Amino acid sequence: MTDHIIIEQPAAHPGVQSIRFNRPEKKNAITRAMYGAMTDALKAANADPDIRATALLGTEGCFSAGNDMNDFLAAAMGGGVIQEILDFLYALVKAEKPVVSGVDGLAIGIGTTMHLHCDLTIASDRSQFRTPFVDLALVPEAASSLVAPHLMGHQRAFSLLAAGEAFSAAEARDAGLIWKVVEPAEVDALTLATAARLAAKPPEALRIARDLIRGDRDEIIARIDEEARHFSARLKSAEARAAFEAFMRR
Ligand code: COA
Repeated sequence: MTDHIIIEQPAAHPGVQSIRFNRPEKKNAITRAMYGAMTDALKAANADPDIRATALLGTEGCFSAGNDMNDFLAAAMGGGVIQEILDFLYALVKAEKPVVSGVDGLAIGIGTTMHLHCDLTIASDRSQFRTPFVDLALVPEAASSLVAPHLMGHQRAFSLLAAGEAFSAAEARDAGLIWKVVEPAEVDALTLATAARLAAKPPEALRIARDLIRGDRDEIIARIDEEARHFSARLKSAEARAAFEAFMRR
């Protein structure tokens, strides 16, 4: 259990489950417990006929600063595997109902790559998408090395995932990473309203349409696992540990 993730079924948006990051004091950095809560919520949505869409939200000015650095450092000192990240990614990729995400502000690391598995993403014009994997001596995760080049072409995927370049909301939209750019005050309402519109559609037709559009999930899961093998090995490297410790010392 964690208070850092808020799960709700807002009465104003029938059929919608919202999953909201609630750790603004740490820029919504995601801990093992937070991944666990999100995984449970996504699995519960699959099994609950009253939930027909999920909305994934952050807090004002920050979607998420990515994985918690303390957990990275602990994994670097230990076995190198954070199973809760993998379980969350599997649950997101295998989600049986549409997922709409809303971003206002920072979206870093997995805070960016999770949108590759969402169906629609709405971001405020002040949002920034960034994956400093290589700068942290890590490698891309969440099957981003498979999905991003397919979406946006090699050069833009390389600049995002390997060069660690920041994408503005407009650049992310033009690259196909997100759907719409709006004013900050509109993000939550439009994300929830969009999820509610999807929730009102014939569920079986929507499920089949979504499956056809999303393609082969097994290929995505296989790439998540392949990346995770490299990620775990890099996590334990001296250069990665130095990068995490440098962050802690700032
Ligand atoms: N893990 C753990 N704590 C984090 C965090 C993370 N990924 N990102 C931010 N925080 C914490 C900071 O340590 C700080 O905590 P403190 O107040 O107890 O010192 C708090 O959140 C606020 O962050 P701060 O760095 O002071 O805010 P900022 O506005 O100057 O910078 C970021 C925000 C997100 C740009 C910066 O914190 C950052 O670069 N974070 C790491 C992002 C990252 O590399 N994620 C992993 C991707 S693979």
